Amino acid sequence: MQKGLFITFEGADGCGKTTQLNLLKDYLTKKHFDVVLTREPGGKGLGEKIREILLNYDGEVSNRCESFLFLADRAQNVDVIVNPAIKQGKIVLCDRHTDSSVAYQGYGRGLDIEQIKTLNNLATGGKQPDLTLVFDVDIETSMKRVGSHKDRMESSGIEFFNRVRNGYLELAKQEPDRIKVVDSTKSIEDVHKQVLDIINKYIN
Ligand code: TYD
Repeated sequence: MQKGLFITFEGADGCGKTTQLNLLKDYLTKKHFDVVLTREPGGKGLGEKIREILLNYDGEVSNRCESFLFLADRAQNVDVIVNPAIKQGKIVLCDRHTDSSVAYQGYGRGLDIEQIKTLNNLATGGKQPDLTLVFDVDIETSMKRVGSHKDRMESSGIEFFNRVRNGYLELAKQEPDRIKVVDSTKSIEDVHKQVLDIINKYIN
């Protein structure tokens, strides 16, 4: 049986990671790997309900409450989708995970970063991704890609997204073995090629 692999996709809104996740899924499936896709917030079931609140609730949401909702969704995703798939030797591609909380709630909203990391550990039971790809793009480009129809998180402003982007780059410096930065200003094909160059070191 193939050994399970847990790969997370990260970056500021509009960075193009979801397109790349789907391209990688097609590539791996053609190579006969068993691939499972999930996302945070909102893998499936209860997670979808939490996602709905996080992205569309239009009343007041405190920063700490927001953090705990993302964490609750993460615990559910890890327990119900990620861990069972890894146990079965599958490759799990997860659209956002722990680093989103550090980048958005920590660097972006200004909550204590060490505390967020501790809470992440609680939510995941200590399981870390084998590999994390951070899709890096300047905020002007990513906001253009997001367009004018913005959800609750996307309405947080340019300064917020600059802090998020710099947060991801800082994390990549802190954990260079796990986190690889991909230049996402390039064309879809070029970015996919960068992804394959990295991934091919992890699969056989
Ligand atoms: P989504 O529509 O999935 O955006 P994207 O396609 O950019 O991933 O919305 C998820 C939003 O939630 C996005 O703005 C990032 C934010 N988020 C956090 O702030 N903290 C988190 O822990 C996670 C998982 C997501």
